[in-house]
Amino acid sequence: MNVAVLGLGAMGTALADALLAAGHRVTVWNRTAARADGLVGRGARRAGSVAEAVAEGDVVIVCILDYADVGVLLEEQAGGGEALRGRVVVNVTNGSPEEARAMAKRVAGLGGAYLDGGIMAVPEMIGRPEAFVLYSGSRAAFATYQGVLDAFARSVYLGEDPGAAPLNDLALLSGMYGMFGGFAHAAALVRSAGGPVEEFTTGLLVPWLRAMCGALPAMAAEIDSGDYGATGSNLAMQVSHDSIGAVSHAQGVSDELFAPVFALMRRRVAGGHGDEGFAGVVEELLRAP
Ligand SMILES: NC(=O)c1ccc[n+]([C@@H]2O[C@H](COP(=O)([O-])OP(=O)(O)OC[C@H]3O[C@@H](n4cnc5c(N)ncnc54)[C@H](OP(=O)(O)O)[C@@H]3O)[C@@H](O)[C@H]2O)c1
Repeated sequence: MNVAVLGLGAMGTALADALLAAGHRVTVWNRTAARADGLVGRGARRAGSVAEAVAEGDVVIVCILDYADVGVLLEEQAGGGEALRGRVVVNVTNGSPEEARAMAKRVAGLGGAYLDGGIMAVPEMIGRPEAFVLYSGSRAAFATYQGVLDAFARSVYLGEDPGAAPLNDLALLSGMYGMFGGFAHAAALVRSAGGPVEEFTTGLLVPWLRAMCGALPAMAAEIDSGDYGATGSNLAMQVSHDSIGAVSHAQGVSDELFAPVFALMRRRVAGGHGDEGFAGVVEELLRAP
């Protein structure tokens, strides 16, 4: 396949390398031209302009820093008119669902088909089995080019709405930051008592979090059904003492990460849901002012 890659930062370079490794004919362009030198040495073709790269690619991968600049590349530098006719743009630049939907329309205006992508990996993970990439947009384009996209990681198609990939990408990152926040608080508590954080993490925290991950599908089913009655650990019991807050203060550790979660749990109990489990706090979030 002829694939063009626009944007050769850490991620764009990893994507282009994966395409080369899979045997595709790869044309690369980067605003700072010298950044393409390594890839050219490894077999990629250098394009002198965005228009030249786009002309060489049946699939055009765009991986830069923001959507406004993607619009400039495609509308002002790709050759104008119907420069994208017959081509598929796969934009893996991070953005919002609204930006993805608007970009799909702009690409259609230039004659192309559009897939938005959310890369669930760091550059070093590209081409490795634990990585996956979310796609949404043109079903036909995904069906035609999945074989090319599979060079990056496991490809997951989420449907025709171009906004689906960025929404799910941000939801996954939100889950990750929640876990990182929990880790930070736990590590601060252990450190405040002079304990070795590494030993605590590998020996206790990781096995504990793995076990707790097992509870998530049942909680998700409660959220989907709206029936929060099926719990073993009720919320009233969980908020009866703010032990985590109290011990944190006693240890000189800020509870600023945990306090908002505890406040939500208390609000849920105050609303008459003390006999239900944790999953119901999602109802409080859905009522954001
Ligand atoms: N790295 C990760 O772990 C990771 C993971 C998932 C998703 N992503 C997403 O992948 C995208 C790229 O990230 P990255 O890690 O490759 O970033 P990076 O290493 O900082 O590279 C940024 C790239 O964007 C280009 N660029 C910036 N502004 C531009 C403009 N106005 N016109 C043309 N090109 C422009 C840069 O070109 P120059 O070389 O000329 O500056 C460079 O190629 C981002 O949307 C990021 O959110 C990254």
